[in-house]
Amino acid sequence: MSTVFCEDGPRFSPWGKEIAYFASLDSTSRYLKREARNGAPAGRVVVAARQTAGYGRRGRAWHSPPGCNLYFSVLLRPELDFFIAPQLSLVAAAALKLALDEDCPGLQIKWPNDLYAGESKLAGILAEMEPGTAGPAFVVLGIGLNVNAGRDDFPPELRDQATSLKIVSGRDFALGALLTVILERLAELEKDFLRHGLAGGIAALINANFHLAGREVILVSGENEIRGRALGIDDAGRLRLATPGGELCSVSAGEAHLRKVHS
Ligand code: BTN
Repeated sequence: MSTVFCEDGPRFSPWGKEIAYFASLDSTSRYLKREARNGAPAGRVVVAARQTAGYGRRGRAWHSPPGCNLYFSVLLRPELDFFIAPQLSLVAAAALKLALDEDCPGLQIKWPNDLYAGESKLAGILAEMEPGTAGPAFVVLGIGLNVNAGRDDFPPELRDQATSLKIVSGRDFALGALLTVILERLAELEKDFLRHGLAGGIAALINANFHLAGREVILVSGENEIRGRALGIDDAGRLRLATPGGELCSVSAGEAHLRKVHS
């Protein structure tokens, strides 16, 4: 274990649990899921300076170069129904937005769980749930935030799609201080979510900063594709779409791709 990369960072999470820092891990989420199965408490956080096999949604690799970005996972054990637990990724997206707002205003949330600066992805969130008897046994929230990476730190195929706080704002950020603020906002919003659901203000925050708002999307969900204009999310975290036929529909899971609209 190493504390070298994040010495300015917190030692305990806002849930009062020790934060584990590693110089290198295959994946903070994979590591934390193992700890969770062995009984680690809610609020445990694992951070790595780099990941050798970081992953995102649909098994995609999460590019994790050393020392310049935040890669961390948070263990939650919420008392929730199975079908509500996926909304925690929206809670995390809202927490990131709030935490970064002062330093980097104008960031937007792309349903279901990415943070965008302009048309480039700044952060990705992956909520993984392990089933228990009456609800999830635990949820591991994995967050990758590009902080001080320069353009050359991204592989060529990502350079047009990804960005970092440094590229957006022109300055460096202290990783530990940033982690503190993000975890604080996450703990606050988790509390709010457990009391009021997304309706307590989180859905409104997301809709006010919604990357897809009014845009034509193709929603891919399993074998199905739905085309429509994205309107926002509802209080259950579903994407609201207006289809070309004028119908309104809400979709709870999938990937939203922006459609190129030719004029
Ligand atoms: C996505 O956009 O598909 C989600 C990316 C999630 C990446 C983070 S980095 C920290 C944690 N560990 C992982 O292996 N993945 C998540």
